[in-house]
Amino acid sequence: MPLTNLNELFKDAYKNGYAIGCFNVDTLKMCQEVLLESEKNHSPVILSFSEGSREFMHPGNIKDLLLNISKDITIPFVLHLDHGRSIESVKSCIDEGFTSVMIDASKYPLEENIRITKEIVEYAHARNVTVEAELGSVEIKDKNESNFYTDPYQAVDFIKKTGIDSLVVSIGTGHGLMKFKENETPTLRLDILRKIDELLPGFPLVLHGSSSIDENALNEFNKYGGTIKKAKGIDVKLINEAVKINVCKVNIGTDFRMAYITGLRKALTENSDKFTPRTFLVEANKKIRECVGYKENFEFFSANRIK
Ligand code: G3H
Ligand code: ZN
Repeated sequence: MPLTNLNELFKDAYKNGYAIGCFNVDTLKMCQEVLLESEKNHSPVILSFSEGSREFMHPGNIKDLLLNISKDITIPFVLHLDHGRSIESVKSCIDEGFTSVMIDASKYPLEENIRITKEIVEYAHARNVTVEAELGSVEIKDKNESNFYTDPYQAVDFIKKTGIDSLVVSIGTGHGLMKFKENETPTLRLDILRKIDELLPGFPLVLHGSSSIDENALNEFNKYGGTIKKAKGIDVKLINEAVKINVCKVNIGTDFRMAYITGLRKALTENSDKFTPRTFLVEANKKIRECVGYKENFEFFSANRIK
């Protein structure tokens, strides 16, 4: 069945050294475009809902809606909760039919993170749902803070105590537009990945904050009325280095969202006498398909992995 959890997908990704793209969607139409593009690219894909986007879309119905629009889809895809902040919210996604969840208790002290995560793992695994958790914190802006980077020994202990299926590591990326300071040379702490891989070979890791925010994309965003002055994303060459070790899932939110808004603004600007909504939405959807296709076709990504 195309709608699946991440167990088998991670095994294949780790074994063959590639990463699966995880895209932050907000609407059913976005899901449809991502699925169609991934089908074209013979690529597995992860549809990722934040708690906010789930609320926007219609909690309780998302799995059924997806099953309805994916009748012709043959590639495996995953319905995933991104950054689940509470036990209640994560459990309600599992009850609804999400096939993968992230419990993000990374802001709590270690023992509390373990307790919360373990409770979710027990609930999820009994229902065939895979669980991602975080140690270290991608959301901290200051890399000098003591709990920014993931400690590899602590990570392995955390994985063993909680029974999670994948771990989000903090190795230098960050959410949003400014992943690095203006004068900072972008680097990733690959040594952390290597150490975890040495201690726990075969275990899949997840990289959040992986948008590249290319100059061209930023210029096009601003050309049609955007006002983002500064951005510093992460080069895909660096991501590839992480994928070659043990990163199997790469989270893309900012690039995907910017692509959508660029398309929307472009259509609004160029069709100021029109008022049929789809005139504008078609352009926005085209842009996110381009974004997904571009990412999936990078070397060490997921295009043509489904035979
Ligand atoms: O959970 C979502 C991602 O970590 C978003 O990262 O801002 O680099 O796209 P991004
Ligand atoms: Zn994230």
